[in-house]
Amino acid sequence: MLVLGGAGFVGSHLCDRLIRDGHRVTCVDNFATGSLANIQHLMQTNRFALVQSDIVKPMTFSEKFDQIYNLACPASPPAYQADPIQTIKTSVIGAINVLDLAREHEAVVFQASTSEIYGDPLHHPQHESDWGNVNPIGPRACYDEGKRCAETLFFDYNRVHGVKIRVARIFNTYGPRMAVHDGRVVSNFIVAALQNKPLTVYGAGAQTRSFCYVDDLVEGIVRLTNAPDEVTGPINLGNPEEFTVRDFAELVLGLTGSRSQIIHLPLPTDDPRQRRPDISRAAEQLGWRPTIAVEDGVRRTIAYFDGLLGKVEPAHQPDSATARRTATLRGMSSAI
Ligand SMILES: NC(=O)c1ccc[n+]([C@@H]2O[C@H](COP(=O)([O-])OP(=O)(O)OC[C@H]3O[C@@H](n4cnc5c(N)ncnc54)[C@H](O)[C@@H]3O)[C@@H](O)[C@H]2O)c1
Repeated sequence: MLVLGGAGFVGSHLCDRLIRDGHRVTCVDNFATGSLANIQHLMQTNRFALVQSDIVKPMTFSEKFDQIYNLACPASPPAYQADPIQTIKTSVIGAINVLDLAREHEAVVFQASTSEIYGDPLHHPQHESDWGNVNPIGPRACYDEGKRCAETLFFDYNRVHGVKIRVARIFNTYGPRMAVHDGRVVSNFIVAALQNKPLTVYGAGAQTRSFCYVDDLVEGIVRLTNAPDEVTGPINLGNPEEFTVRDFAELVLGLTGSRSQIIHLPLPTDDPRQRRPDISRAAEQLGWRPTIAVEDGVRRTIAYFDGLLGKVEPAHQPDSATARRTATLRGMSSAI
């Protein structure tokens, strides 16, 4: 198995899963946003190999791969907007290199596409038949249009060269190993709440998002990649439970027992108003649906960040419910 972007948040969980399933895994990463800490624990196994490389450059390997998973691309808006030209090169030139490799190896190739290809969606919830509503020249376009072009390339390589493709449109995913400064809403809120710093909500916080726990996503990725060849996707993978950003901030405050305030800033350019996947295709073709409730997944993620950031300074005498909750979280952090 070849995992491109395997030192990132989702990629490292995928490497864990493939190693657990008994495979030999090669991870390629340029460490633009990934970290060695995410895969350090795998370095002891002789079934795991790490190659530091950029997928924008053509790749050659002496061993033969059965499956190639392309997750290499910065995913958080601050990260992908920091170097937009590199982002679009990664998505487009990277996709060509990945597809040429898949063709050479006759491997099944998985592409981590995104709900961002729907842009500011015209239909709700988002179904795979929606063509999207994307601003092609805005600051998010390097990611949205890059991923759209990558999908085009995947389907053209499938039609022209018969490459066995699997394309997933991934919706907001969260969990342990997100970077502290990742910049996405789940980690932003949890890190701020644990430090009793203000939680920043853009606009009134009425925009909606749906949040999928990383283990559920990895299960969907593995099922899709191992599905029959006619199941090419695109296929939505995400949790259809929808929250306003404001309600999600309240949930995080409740689960952390934080004394943080919520502050409001103007909406960023092209911020999508609604996000919820229609997962009927994933249910029908893969028998997949998320199994981890958002509250449960957020608790596990809080425990992870709590372990990273150290003990939360007690802000006030917690009521008994908060004290019980905090005790549970502390108990969980060593198990994750
Ligand atoms: N996490 C989500 O909510 C989400 C949602 C939609 C789509 N996705 C997609 O899933 C994939 C993984 O996302 P993530 O959340 O784990 O992000 P991440 O930033 O944690 O991981 C991306 C990994 O790719 C590596 N990378 C970036 N550019 C590279 C390049 N040119 N060559 C080699 N390696 C490179 C990074 O160093 C990092 O390890 C991305 O393709 C992303 O677009 C993620």
